[in-house]
Amino acid sequence: MERKHGGNIYQIARQRGLKPESIIDFSANINALGFSPRVKNVFSDVDSSILNYPDHGADEFINELSIYHGLPAENFVAGNGSSEFISLLPGVIRPKSVLIVAPIYTEYEYSFHRSKGVIFYLNTLENDNFCIQEKMLYDELKRGYSALYICNPSNPTGVVIPADTMKEMIVYASKKGTTVIIDETFMDFAEEHSMKGMVKKFDHLIILRTMSNFFALAGLRNGYLISHAKHIEKIRERQSMWSLNAVAQYAGIESLKDSAYIQKSVKYNNEARAAFARDLKELPFLNVFKSSANFLFLKLKESAPVSVSEIYGRLLERGIIIRRCEDFQGIDHSFFRVSVKKKNENKKLVSELKKLLSKK
Ligand SMILES: Cc1ncc(COP(=O)(O)O)c(C=O)c1O
Repeated sequence: MERKHGGNIYQIARQRGLKPESIIDFSANINALGFSPRVKNVFSDVDSSILNYPDHGADEFINELSIYHGLPAENFVAGNGSSEFISLLPGVIRPKSVLIVAPIYTEYEYSFHRSKGVIFYLNTLENDNFCIQEKMLYDELKRGYSALYICNPSNPTGVVIPADTMKEMIVYASKKGTTVIIDETFMDFAEEHSMKGMVKKFDHLIILRTMSNFFALAGLRNGYLISHAKHIEKIRERQSMWSLNAVAQYAGIESLKDSAYIQKSVKYNNEARAAFARDLKELPFLNVFKSSANFLFLKLKESAPVSVSEIYGRLLERGIIIRRCEDFQGIDHSFFRVSVKKKNENKKLVSELKKLLSKK
C-alpha cells in the first residue's frame, strides 16, 4: 500500500532540482506563523540535551500538557509524533472491526492493514458539505464495531463536529462497547470542540494530538495521546525507549508556555483563512468548503478548463505544491487541499489559480 502525504518537499526538491526552502508548500498544514519564538531558547543551549538520554517518561513535557489542557498528568502519554500512536493502537485495542468516518487521514487504514481487524467506512457526502449525518452514524454503530475512528476537525475536509454532537456520539458508542478514537490534530485551532474533558469519565475514549501542526514542530516529531489512565499504561508498555527525544521535549514545553503565540496563531488563522476563502470563492470553477482548521478543502467543477492534476503540475513548475486528494477514501480526483499560509503566499496561489482557471 503506497503512503501518500503532503509536505514531501525534500523528495520534490530533489526531483525538480530545487532547494526545499524555495518551495511554497500548501500541501502540509503547518501554522503559517511558524513555531513559537521561545523554541529558539532550546537551541541556544542544546549540548546537554544531545549528550544525555532524554527523560524517557517525558515528565516535564507531560506536566506542561497537564497545565495546558487542565487534565491530570496520568491521562497523557507522549511519543514520536502522533504517528507513533496510530501505529501502536491496533496492537493495544485489538479491534475485530473498525468503522472509519471518511474521507479521512490515510495512516489509520495503513496501520490496520497490518493488524487482523476488518475496516468499514462511513462516507460523509459532498451534498452534506461533508458534515456527518448523525442518524447514519448511529445506525452503523448499532452493528457493534470494536472501534470508531474520527478525525475532528477532519483532514482533509476541515469540517468540525461540534462538541455537543460529539459528546452524544461518545455516550452512545460507550453503550455499544465501541472504543472511540478521535484524531484532534487540528483541534488547537478550534479547542472549544475538544473531547479531552471526557477521558476521565469514559474509559473507551482515545484522543490523538500533536505538536506538529499548530505548534509547527513537525520536523522534531512530538505527539501525544490523551486517554483514561488504563490505556495510557498499556500504550507506554509498547513504546520503544526514549521515543520522544530531548530537544522535542524542551521545544514542546517552551511552545505550550507561550500563550501570546497561541492566541496570535488562532487569531491569524481565523482571519487569514476567511480572507483566503473569500478570494478563492471569487475564482470560477471552484467550490470552497467551510473549514475550522488551518487549511481549505476545494472542489474543481467538471466544466473547468483544466484538471486538478494539470493544476498540480503547472503550480509545481512555479515551485508551489498543493495536496491532491484522490487517494482519500470516498472522494475523487476533483478535490484538492491547500493550507493557510502567509497572506502574500495565499494571494500568490489565488493569482496563479486565476490564470489557470481563466477560459483558454
Ligand atoms: C490528521 C492527522 N493525524 C496525524 C498526523 C501525523 O501527525 P504527527 O506529525 O504527530 O505524526 C497528521 C499529519 O499531518 C494528520 O494530518
